[in-house]
Amino acid sequence: TYVVTEACINCKYMDCVEVCPVDCFYEGENMLVINPNECIDCGVCEPECPAEAILPDTEDGLEEWLEINTKFSETWPNITVKGTQPDDADDWKDKEGKKELLSE
Ligand code: SF4
Ligand code: F3S
Repeated sequence: TYVVTEACINCKYMDCVEVCPVDCFYEGENMLVINPNECIDCGVCEPECPAEAILPDTEDGLEEWLEINTKFSETWPNITVKGTQPDDADDWKDKEGKKELLSE
């Protein structure tokens, strides 16, 4: 599966949802997650993200993000159409240490 990681927080560009063939993105206040049980591993969303937030969960150190994607995709609403990205999305793009800002 692919997972959405920290870089999405407060950026939330939503370009990813437009290309997913199985509509498996779910929307939180300031980030999206992928439902790992629905993702078919096609990989088309990965290059679409301007923040490079989407990664295959086979990369090192992503266990925590796999858990976060699994957990929140159970309760957050499905999103299939790109909405308006945050005004300051570009300011957050290269910031690190955003994890604590994740709105549940
Ligand atoms: Fe959707 Fe494919 Fe991305 Fe999985 S890898 S979330 S199926 S676009
Ligand atoms: Fe987030 Fe990138 Fe999608 S910033 S909303 S994963 S396009």
